[in-house]
Amino acid sequence: MQFLPGISLLGLVISAFAKIYEDVSALPTREFDFVLTYVGFTDTTRLTENSAVSVLVLEAGASNQNILDSEVPFLASNLWGSLYDWNYTTVPQVGLDNRTIGYPRGKLLGGSSSINLMAYTRGSSDDWDKYAEMSGDIGWSWKNIQPYVRKNEGLMPPGRSPFDPRYDPLVHSRIGPVEVSLPEYYWPSDHRVLEAAQELRREFPYGLDVNDGDPLGVGWIQSTIGNGTRSSAATAYLGRDFAARPNLFVLLHAHATRITTQNGRQAQSNAEMVAAADRSLPIGTRYNVTARKEIILAAGTFNTAQLLLLSGIGDSDALSSLGITPILHLPDVGRRMSDHPLVPVTWIVKDNITFGTFLGNSTNFNIALTQWNKSRTGPFSFTPPQLFAWQRVPDKDTFLQSIADPAAGPHSAHYELIFATRELSRRPRVCTFSFAHARYLINLFPTVTGGSITINSTDPFDPPLINPNLLGTVTDGQIMIYALRAARRFVETASAWKGYIVAESGAFTNATTDAELLAFARQNARTIWHAVGSCQMTPYGVATGCVDPDLKVKGAKGLRIIDGSVLPFVPSAHTQVPIYIIAERGSDLIKKDWGL
Ligand SMILES: *[C@@H]1O[C@H](CO)[C@@H](O)[C@H](O)[C@H]1NC(C)=O
Ligand SMILES: *[C@@H]1O[C@H](CO)[C@@H](O)[C@H](O)[C@H]1NC(C)=O
Ligand SMILES: *[C@@H]1O[C@H](CO)[C@@H](O)[C@H](O)[C@H]1NC(C)=O
Ligand SMILES: *[C@@H]1O[C@H](CO)[C@@H](O)[C@H](O)[C@H]1NC(C)=O
Ligand SMILES: *[C@@H]1O[C@H](CO)[C@@H](O)[C@H](O)[C@H]1NC(C)=O
Ligand SMILES: *[C@@H]1O[C@H](CO)[C@@H](O)[C@H](O)[C@H]1NC(C)=O
Ligand SMILES: *[C@@H]1O[C@H](CO)[C@@H](O)[C@H](O)[C@H]1NC(C)=O
Ligand SMILES: *[C@@H]1O[C@H](CO)[C@@H](O)[C@H](O)[C@H]1NC(C)=O
Ligand SMILES: *[C@@H]1O[C@H](CO)[C@@H](O)[C@H](O)[C@H]1NC(C)=O
Repeated sequence: MQFLPGISLLGLVISAFAKIYEDVSALPTREFDFVLTYVGFTDTTRLTENSAVSVLVLEAGASNQNILDSEVPFLASNLWGSLYDWNYTTVPQVGLDNRTIGYPRGKLLGGSSSINLMAYTRGSSDDWDKYAEMSGDIGWSWKNIQPYVRKNEGLMPPGRSPFDPRYDPLVHSRIGPVEVSLPEYYWPSDHRVLEAAQELRREFPYGLDVNDGDPLGVGWIQSTIGNGTRSSAATAYLGRDFAARPNLFVLLHAHATRITTQNGRQAQSNAEMVAAADRSLPIGTRYNVTARKEIILAAGTFNTAQLLLLSGIGDSDALSSLGITPILHLPDVGRRMSDHPLVPVTWIVKDNITFGTFLGNSTNFNIALTQWNKSRTGPFSFTPPQLFAWQRVPDKDTFLQSIADPAAGPHSAHYELIFATRELSRRPRVCTFSFAHARYLINLFPTVTGGSITINSTDPFDPPLINPNLLGTVTDGQIMIYALRAARRFVETASAWKGYIVAESGAFTNATTDAELLAFARQNARTIWHAVGSCQMTPYGVATGCVDPDLKVKGAKGLRIIDGSVLPFVPSAHTQVPIYIIAERGSDLIKKDWGL
């Protein structure tokens, strides 16, 4: 064990909770049973239940404490492009007319769960049953993940009445650390969405609860918000009584640069890391931390794949040509990533309460912030949108009949509509209906063009090359065209919108044919930040994929991946909860392996 001399001794920050170290020199040891990078608090909490086990979590960014924009749900988007964001950009997207798009990822304790829009969606039963089938492990089926869903979720009691017809209490848990709630503040357009759904119920039926295994229909959003405040992997799993554990260590500003081998064996449990997320620091400030049992990568779909590649785990030829010594030939690292494109569609509306009412007027902003600060209520206590619709292209659709169902099964959506009232540029009172299409069953054949994570530099401080391949296939385009027409039907045929909708807005106005709608989508799509699957799980003994269904890296020892990278395809959901589920089950798999 070696301690590096010098370096500033910022020492120990005594937070309300865990021992959080700002500087490596203050760490009492460099050897732990488990070392996690970056987020990984679910596993941390579960593993440190056993006091004989020591765990170090490395975080590249800063603490999440006292960051108002992370606490106040309505202000989340202020964090994108900030110091708390990895601030990635994609490579030019062929399906988006070669545009590049910004890609926020949280760089602070809690990772993206500290900067996201907090949707609480588990995915459909078909998604999970397909994961079980594709990984060859029935433990990933919808039925078998339910204990992990329960362990993670802590649904808050509704504020207004014990009975709330906006969700089904039977499918929820109140025991987990991640707080979940429904909005207690309503926007003027909310009731119109519900009335339109009632009118058009054949196509847009009401769905009581998006989390009962069958998310289809129009319904209320549930969010990882408790008492009007964000609940993240950091507030939930590092908070409460967990973090006082003496066997838990958290080190900030620790940018992982490489996983090294020990004794010539592949990917042994010994990691080299650097002390600060700043490339200007001399190389001598790098240090090693060692995991006696396992290194766990929980750095997310982009950074996990990048770290494997930097460590020589990936396609040997590609790594060699970059000058990286391959230590494990695993060609699928970074391949077949999937994501959800999002296209904003807008109508000009007659409304006097929009995002801009609060964000564009400092008097109103201060009133809303004061209200939030006093009572955790009001517009800042939640993040619009509050209602969404999960929809399928009908089976009788000509295009769908010509291909295998791109969704995992009949309970999985092909697209999603999201409803929110906000400004677009300087024009007030424009109502935006954005949506992503929620598809993507990428099959196991390596020839399928999906997204990818690659690197073109051996410098760990350079970003990876991120290619989500948005709207990159014919199927993506066809479903998006269908979804755009469905949005138009929803808004323009229901009488609930009469007197509210004034007109379509922007280039959408002129898009009617398939070709025009697709061109509109290519010009306007971005992502809704659901990239998964850069290191997928496949059955034991299968050479494709990156991890076995127990999440251990194929061919490596002491190395596991516990994040969205392992999902074989993007679920019919926002991805936060599926990742919590992976983490809860992953913790159990580790405990079982080590008899903990
Ligand atoms: C994030 O990236 C954008 C666009 O590349 C840039 O303008 C901005 O300054 C970056 N933010 C930070 C905090 O580096
Ligand atoms: C996008 O870039 C590719 C490769 O450089 C090129 O072949 C293609 O024509 C470009 N597409 C557009 C719409 O500019
Ligand atoms: C970390 O370990 C690797 C491999 O054992 C070694 O090459 C490297 O010099 C070590 N780095 C430091 C800073 O000790
Ligand atoms: C919006 O309009 C309603 C009805 O005209 C009015 O009661 C309310 O005070 C207005 N709200 C704002 C923020 O202007
Ligand atoms: C801001 O909103 C207040 C109402 O709360 C209104 O009196 C004031 O005129 C608004 N300011 C601007 C610049 O629109
Ligand atoms: C919240 O209220 C407390 C106590 O009154 C005050 O110290 C703090 O500055 C307020 N915070 C904000 C963001 O208004
Ligand atoms: C919610 O937060 C407010 C403001 O901090 C506090 O007064 C209230 O007791 C909290 N309610 C619950 C149920 O925790
Ligand atoms: C890697 O790709 C990025 C983005 O295309 C580019 O800016 C950078 O110069 C490339 N780096 C190297 C070492 O080729
Ligand atoms: C729609 O098309 C018309 C006729 O070509 C054109 O004048 C108008 O500017 C277009 N509108 C938008 C928003 O692109």
